[in-house]
Amino acid sequence: MAEEIRIVLRNYGKIDPLKIDDYLAIGGYEALIKARSMDREELIEEVKKSKLRGRGGAGFNCGQKWAFAYGAQADQKYVVCNADEGEPGTYKDRIIMENDPHTLLEGMAICGYAIGANKGYIYCRGEYPQVTQILNTAIAQAKEKDVLRDFDIEVKSGAGAYVCGEETALIESIEGNRGEPRIRPPFPPVSGLWQKPTIVNNVETFANVPVIVDKGADYYASIGAPAYPGTKVVTLTGDVNNKTFFEVPTNTTIREVIFQFGGGIPGDRKFKAVQIGGNSGAFISADLLDTPIAFDAMTSIGSALGSGAIFVLDETRDIVDVITRVAKFFEDESCGKCAPCREGTARMYELMEKLNSGQGSANDIVLLNKLGRVMSYSCLCGLGQAAPTPVLTTIERFSADYNAKLM
Ligand SMILES: Cc1cc2nc3c(=O)[nH]c(=O)nc-3n(C[C@H](O)[C@H](O)[C@H](O)COP(=O)(O)O)c2cc1C
Repeated sequence: MAEEIRIVLRNYGKIDPLKIDDYLAIGGYEALIKARSMDREELIEEVKKSKLRGRGGAGFNCGQKWAFAYGAQADQKYVVCNADEGEPGTYKDRIIMENDPHTLLEGMAICGYAIGANKGYIYCRGEYPQVTQILNTAIAQAKEKDVLRDFDIEVKSGAGAYVCGEETALIESIEGNRGEPRIRPPFPPVSGLWQKPTIVNNVETFANVPVIVDKGADYYASIGAPAYPGTKVVTLTGDVNNKTFFEVPTNTTIREVIFQFGGGIPGDRKFKAVQIGGNSGAFISADLLDTPIAFDAMTSIGSALGSGAIFVLDETRDIVDVITRVAKFFEDESCGKCAPCREGTARMYELMEKLNSGQGSANDIVLLNKLGRVMSYSCLCGLGQAAPTPVLTTIERFSADYNAKLM
């Protein structure tokens, strides 16, 4: 029987997020003091050894990323927290920031010390004004107590576009430009905000850092799946009894998340599909439910853990209809900078709508497959590269739904 382990949400419900004294009373900011007593290289090595990987979607080794920024020569470096949280069905970062804002500030300050940055930004989803207030209160209290010392943190409001969560579009947006992705390389740890070395990490990634420094890399690496250790905060939505969030070790299976933590499907209906990782995630059929939610296990079944959003569909759901809505989302959210995404998302929606309305032919499915493959190889950023995933995985795994709608 899988059990919840709370690392990121360790203080959830135990402290008043608006009172720094509550956080200090339970050992808050002690990890920052410990980090500052360490040699920078030793600290980065510890984070690397913990095998902490990004919780924003790409799963990159956190310590390795910090090492790139540490090694880059510059008169100014930045730490940026990605709190854009635009992925449908995802609200884990909001839960962390609303309930334990100082954990995030502490994680960012540790990163600032490690790479030699004295300025941090939190790019917070524009639709989270209450979170911005909480963060600003926490920052003011941290300044008053001088716990951050020379590390300054500022909250920037997100511009309201899904693509602004992509790290280079986010950087453009903080700079005051239209949020569009940059061509990479160079990558942000070498050339990011105002062309300076910049670490962009997700809220949940930063929230793990104080625990790693406090309890050590070995402790952290011993939890969950060996190659993607620790926990994951997952948010459950759709046809499931408990539509809520859980923090589970990364070796927990999808079945356990849905049927144990989520309490299964309402009524006497049967499970049909689950989409993991937000709108660009793969759709998974019942035969794959025993896959752990760990990053690599997900990749091995052509899926991605993404933000940790888990969207469950019961047997009454029409997959083609659901995918048509998903395709509309991507058409709306494509920033239009690169042609494969700008044109591809529009054509993809067009074809899906044709199929959904019963006007499509088997050839349209062939076209969707070809289009999806071209997009995944040629789009400039993850938005266009991953937009075909729900389409391609459902064509493969739920072909009966498509065939039933053919002319
Ligand atoms: C279209 C798109 C939207 C994204 N949205 C987010 C987001 O809301 N939050 C986030 O942390 N990462 C998001 N990412 C991933 C970021 O580009 C980046 O990988 C992440 O912030 C790195 O932090 P991490 O290593 O801690 O995961 C998005 C990526 C793409 C392509």
